[in-house]
Amino acid sequence: MRKKVIAIYPGSFDPPTNGHLDLIERGAKIFDVLIVAVLRNSAKTTPLFSVEERLSMLRKTTKKWDNVRIDAFAGLLVDYAVRCKAQVVLRGIRAVSDYEYELQMALMNRKLNKGLETMFMMPAGAYSYLSSGLVREISALGGSVCNLIPKVVERELKRKLAASSRKSKTKQE
Ligand code: PNS
Repeated sequence: MRKKVIAIYPGSFDPPTNGHLDLIERGAKIFDVLIVAVLRNSAKTTPLFSVEERLSMLRKTTKKWDNVRIDAFAGLLVDYAVRCKAQVVLRGIRAVSDYEYELQMALMNRKLNKGLETMFMMPAGAYSYLSSGLVREISALGGSVCNLIPKVVERELKRKLAASSRKSKTKQE
């Protein structure tokens, strides 16, 4: 019997975009199980959405794929992969500019666990310029991000930005 291939698609997903969903759809077709894993202890900038909010948005937007699981992890990805019995890490490469960082991570993860393979997939060309960071910036400045993020995420983003503008108004008063 063929061994089940379990893959992890790790990331910040702050917030999930249509580019992430495009990759999830591609991954779900290839792997027996695809675990979309949100990093808990990111050293990056202060997140806009809490991990629980990101998990909830990912759950809502991926429920049509039976083999996709949503989870969060802390610590090293290679250790989490061992706990999940995953053989593959899935990452997206949008443009050449992603390659250097991804190569470094893939090779470092291989050094830490030589049994874990990183596989790269390209999202649809329409998402090659899309990133969560740009979505956060454009929506904070009042620009439109429609067709770039799922409707659920669009609603949550509006709610979050309205709450933060109310907060800053109250502070000014
Ligand atoms: O979407 P991102 O922010 O580019 O994802 C980066 C992520 C979560 C894949 C990476 O930071 C990661 O794997 N962090 C877990 C800690 C770890 O294992 N670091 C060593 C990576 S070589």
